[in-house]
Amino acid sequence: MSKRILFVCLGNICRSPSAHAVTRRLAPGWEIDSAGTSDWHVGEPPYGPMQQAARARGIEMGDLRARQFHAGDFGRFDLIVAMDADNLARIEALRPAGSTTPVRLFTGFAGPDAGDHVPDPYYTRDFDGCLDLIEICAKGLIETA
Ligand code: 4NP
Repeated sequence: MSKRILFVCLGNICRSPSAHAVTRRLAPGWEIDSAGTSDWHVGEPPYGPMQQAARARGIEMGDLRARQFHAGDFGRFDLIVAMDADNLARIEALRPAGSTTPVRLFTGFAGPDAGDHVPDPYYTRDFDGCLDLIEICAKGLIETA
């Protein structure tokens, strides 16, 4: 079944564009998008070191541009996927009255070893570890959706 999925992080230049690029490759029939809860990087491509780490494993995200999450996104997707609890709360704060669109943590689609959030590589600098976790979560999401 085809799905419309929106991935959301803070800046939309590291975690959510990576989730976007990994998932669109694994589920080519699905409609995938990504956004940030902040407006800090709107219009920018994904962060250079993130793109390089992804490209090294054959994942291309250079076509993506950051945009800010907005309340209208609740009506445009079947599922909204947050990278951590802080961003999940920021998303929920914008939920329109009557909207029932689910908002889930990405790590909830992986096993218990995945932890409860996708650590932000903008701060940890662990771009490969971020991609490893995102690939596990994306596979889990596709299997359960
Ligand atoms: P992201 O990472 O939320 O995974 O895109 C960040 C990127 C940039 C900033 C914070 C987080 N920043 O502070 O500019």
